[in-house]
Amino acid sequence: MIFYMSVCSNLLLWKAPLTTRRAWRSWKLLRSSVVGTSFGPGSLDRSEEMSTVSAEKPLHTPVMLKEVLHFLDIQPGQVVLDMTFGGGGHTKAILNMVPEVTILALDRDPTAISLAQQLAKEHPGRVKPLLGRFSELEVLLSNTNIKPGSIDAVLLDAGCSSMQMDQAERGFSLSKDGPLDMRMDGERYPDMPCAADVVNTLDQQALASILTAYGEERHARKIASAIVEARRVNPITRTQQLASVVAGSFPAAVVYARKDRLHRPAHVATKTFQSLRIFVNDELNELHAGLLAAREVLRPGGRLCVITFHSLEDRLVKRFLRGDDLSNLDQSHFSSRKEGTGKKKINVDNISWLPLKRKVIIPEKDDVQENPRGRSAKLRAVVKS
Ligand SMILES: C[S@@+](CC[C@H](N)C(=O)[O-])C[C@H]1O[C@@H](n2cnc3c(N)ncnc32)[C@H](O)[C@@H]1O
Repeated sequence: MIFYMSVCSNLLLWKAPLTTRRAWRSWKLLRSSVVGTSFGPGSLDRSEEMSTVSAEKPLHTPVMLKEVLHFLDIQPGQVVLDMTFGGGGHTKAILNMVPEVTILALDRDPTAISLAQQLAKEHPGRVKPLLGRFSELEVLLSNTNIKPGSIDAVLLDAGCSSMQMDQAERGFSLSKDGPLDMRMDGERYPDMPCAADVVNTLDQQALASILTAYGEERHARKIASAIVEARRVNPITRTQQLASVVAGSFPAAVVYARKDRLHRPAHVATKTFQSLRIFVNDELNELHAGLLAAREVLRPGGRLCVITFHSLEDRLVKRFLRGDDLSNLDQSHFSSRKEGTGKKKINVDNISWLPLKRKVIIPEKDDVQENPRGRSAKLRAVVKS
């Protein structure tokens, strides 16, 4: 319960308007009456899920691998923190490339950490799995012999992994039918609200705010209204059910009219899914916590690479690295309108980074063709001064 309250207050600190806050307080009560006992993926057995995931399969093609290896410039014997182990793509490449490196492999997803544990057995003494969130890193590190301020390189590859997207039961994908879940922590915190809780309990205005804030969705009000209408008939508990509710609020001709960066048709519910995922996992507050933690754990001269996948994340990273004061996070920190306007509130104490490349780095065309999931990736590489 204490955890639930802290998650909610954290979630609500800056991301949700007052109406969301009120609605959220009652979500727990509503959860049982609206969604019923079959709600969410509670019945999913982790070991069953793991049996479909083999460490041999390429679970996540690492994004911008060459660039990450180049900018981290890891030397034999160094200690590296992979803050987002995922399918282990980057970690495996580092292990193969650099002898005697030690990698701390952090992830909030127990499925990812099971893979890290397998890898740790294959590379005794070289991989130390850490299950938890960015915001829990300090505590997790205090249980190891690694001292803050001593790590040589940190990688933060934000967002969710292909492994999470590809498993219908996790509820991240709009193209695969599954329970509307989206919790990166899986079943670690049974009280934590999942995407079905959000769409079935929050009021229309709160839903629209989430879609606007985290999906930059221009049709947020229309979609929120369609969700509220649909759930009056039946609770929305499946990913494809939500995708059809959103699609149903647009004329059939525009359902695939939006385009991604490869100019391929993108489903009209893509931004809805993104916004729910960010909200459920408190991703922007977590990203901020992750950047603060990276600054704490790196030694002076240590290197940080951050990969982001959408503009909200990239703006936050850019502003953090240039020393903007983000201590009172609110939505304006991620608004594109704030870019380049008005007085910048810069706290010189916060500037601890020297860029390795002044401009943001994007994937090469060939890499995007090979790994389309990385098409919107942006990499920022810096040294702690
Ligand atoms: C894009 S994937 C990383 C893929 C990985 N670099 C690879 O090559 O396989 C992001 C991973 O970060 C994890 N993650 C996201 N937010 C996190 C947080 N706040 N704390 C810890 N792990 C997080 C997700 O669970 C996911 O597994």
